[in-house]
Amino acid sequence: MKTKEENCSMIKPTISKIGILTGGGDCPGLNAVIRAVVKSAILQHGWKVIGIEDGFGGLLVHGKARSLLFEHVKGILDKGGTILGSCNRTNPFEYKFKTNGKVITEDRSPILIETLKTLEIDALIVIGGDGTLSIAHRLFQMGVPVVGVPKTIDNDLASTDITFGFDTAINTATEAIDKIRTTGESHHRVMVVEVMGRYAGWIALQAGVASGADIILIPEIPFSLEKIFHVIKERAKIGRHDSIIVVAEGAKPKDGDRFVKRILEESADSIRLGGIGEMLVNRISDELDIESRETVLGHIQRGGSPSAFDRILSTRLGFGAVNLIAEGSFGEMVCLKTPRIEAVSLGEAVKELKKVSVELDIVQAARAIGVSFGD
Ligand code: F6P
Repeated sequence: MKTKEENCSMIKPTISKIGILTGGGDCPGLNAVIRAVVKSAILQHGWKVIGIEDGFGGLLVHGKARSLLFEHVKGILDKGGTILGSCNRTNPFEYKFKTNGKVITEDRSPILIETLKTLEIDALIVIGGDGTLSIAHRLFQMGVPVVGVPKTIDNDLASTDITFGFDTAINTATEAIDKIRTTGESHHRVMVVEVMGRYAGWIALQAGVASGADIILIPEIPFSLEKIFHVIKERAKIGRHDSIIVVAEGAKPKDGDRFVKRILEESADSIRLGGIGEMLVNRISDELDIESRETVLGHIQRGGSPSAFDRILSTRLGFGAVNLIAEGSFGEMVCLKTPRIEAVSLGEAVKELKKVSVELDIVQAARAIGVSFGD
C-alpha cells in the first residue's frame, strides 16, 4: 500500500460502481476474495459491485454482468471455485473462433471497453494468474482503470510471496500422496504421482517434501531416467521396493521436452500437458523388475474448500484491492510481502514467472535428507 504522504499527492477518483471478474483456471480462495471485495466496497465506500461472469469473455457479450450484494456473498467464504465462473481460453486481444473449419483470431478489446462503458463501471478488479493479469495490464495501458489480485495454485507469480490457492493445493496433494504411500508400501511398488505445475514445480516440491517423497521431478531441474532407475535400485538393495515419485506435469528429461497431451488451436491457453507420469511408470516397469503405478491428481488440486491460510490471504487481498481503487492506484496488483499486503505495478508483476531456484533452502534440505531430483 502507498504511504499516507504518497496518497496525499494523488487525486482520488470518483467511484460509484466497480466490476470484478475471475479469469484463468479457478482455485480455492476466489470466493473469499469476491466476498471481501463486495463487503468492504459496500460497507466502507458505499460502492455498487458488478460481478462479470466467466472471465473477460463475460465482457464480450451481453447479459453476463450482475449486481453483487451481501446476500450473494453470504456463505461463500469456505466454498471452492468461483461464484462468477472463470475461463482460461478467452484473450480479448486474440479472440479465437472457428469458421468454415478455419481458426480466426480477432482483437475484440474494443467491444470489452465499450461494455465497461455501457455498464458504467468506474474500476475493474481482475483476479487471475499470469495470463489474466497480462491482459489486465494491456487494458490498463489502453486506459482502463484496473487493479489486479494474484491467484494460482501453481504459485508461479513473481512479486508476491505466495498466491492464494497454493496452500490448499499442497495440502490436498500431500494428503493424497500420504494415501498413495500406504498402498505402495503394501504392494512394494513404485508409485508415481503427477501433480500440476506447467512451468514451475512449487506444488511438486512442497507436497513432495511434506509427504516424504523419494524422488521429486520439477520443470526447473531436468531429470535423467538413468538417475531415477539408480535411486530405485539403491532403495531395493536395502529392502525398500516401494518408492514415491512426485512429478510436476511440466517436468522434462535432460534430453527432451515437456509432455504435451493435446494442442487446442482455438484456445488462448493452447497446450494441455500430461503423460509424464505414464511414461515414467512404463519405463520403470520395462527397465526394472519392480511394479509401478501412476496417479494423476489433476483438478482435485484446484477444487475444494480453501485452507484457513488461503481464506485469510484472500480476504486481505480483496480488501487491499478495494483500497487501491479508493486511492486511485490503477495498473497495480495487490501482493503479499510478508507480513504486509503491498502493491506492485501490473507490468512488474507479469514480467517473469517465479520459478523454483536450486539455491532455495527447501531444495537443499530435501537433497540433504536424501531426496533425489533426478539430476
Ligand atoms: O491453474 C493452473 C493450472 O493448474 C496448471 O498447472 C495446469 O496445467 C492448468 O491449470 C490446467 O488447466 P485446465 O483446467 O484448462 O486443464
